[in-house]
Amino acid sequence: MSDRYGVFGHPVAHSKSPAIHAAFAAQCGHDLSYEAILAPLDGFADSLCAFVAAGGRGANVTVPFKEEACRLATRLTPRAAQAGAVNTLVFDPSGMLGDNTDGAGLLRDLTNNLGCRITGQRLLLLGAGGAARGVVGPLLEARPAALVIANRTAARAADLAERFAGRGPLRACGYPDLAGESFDLVINATSASLGGETPYLPERVFASGSLAYDMMYGRGETPFLLLARAQGAARLADGLGMLVEQAAEAFRFWRGVLPDSAPVLAMLRAVATVPAH
Ligand code: ATR
Repeated sequence: MSDRYGVFGHPVAHSKSPAIHAAFAAQCGHDLSYEAILAPLDGFADSLCAFVAAGGRGANVTVPFKEEACRLATRLTPRAAQAGAVNTLVFDPSGMLGDNTDGAGLLRDLTNNLGCRITGQRLLLLGAGGAARGVVGPLLEARPAALVIANRTAARAADLAERFAGRGPLRACGYPDLAGESFDLVINATSASLGGETPYLPERVFASGSLAYDMMYGRGETPFLLLARAQGAARLADGLGMLVEQAAEAFRFWRGVLPDSAPVLAMLRAVATVPAH
């Protein structure tokens, strides 16, 4: 029988993870199945236990279960503990090991796929929820000149920065406090795009030559990327590359081999209408 994996979410029907992992498995010659599993909002733990009991080997976890997965895991990798969120689980007789591959996925997309330099650059991270929390540690490890976390609710940004105090040149603020500052890389980790909105950004936040990166992706440019273009960002990228790269890291975690993400990203781009610029 094939080794069984799946992604748990709510909603999850839209997930591209089954297609991505099927492509990785074919590329690496691994015999596995990977399905999208809709867990009830109050029934994630039960769904996960049923999957393990039925022989599941590992799982991805997406919105809104990443924090709960972190609490359920019996052991955590250091990067999952740091993020306080788990997007990848592996099951073995001794329990559930939780990892978080989101930050590594973002970093690999930025540096390998988009040729973006992070060391010595000024970075702005928009948002202070789960999506932002998973990437602060890996961004700091790449040694930027500055990392500013800005959020609609400034106190939440301050709490997030506090978690990483002493780990690098990190500062937190609200959006109006960004007036007069500019950044080489601006990453949108808010969920504002879901409602067709964007964070309010003062003018000149995007430095000349800057890259605007939206962790979201979808048909057409996201509201954040439209705003970034209008405010002078030189390059735009959506989060499809991050999605594929975090999946590649998860595949390596389970199967011990890092698949080649490039053909899989190209395949997804071919069926989407959003090019990375
Ligand atoms: P996720 O796990 O996707 O990060 P979350 O923890 O609910 O979800 O966080 C959502 C983030 O998007 C928060 O930073 C939120 O800002 P607040 O902390 O002020 O709520 C941000 N967000 C959501 N809608 C937004 C909007 N319309 N404008 C600006 N920020 C928004």
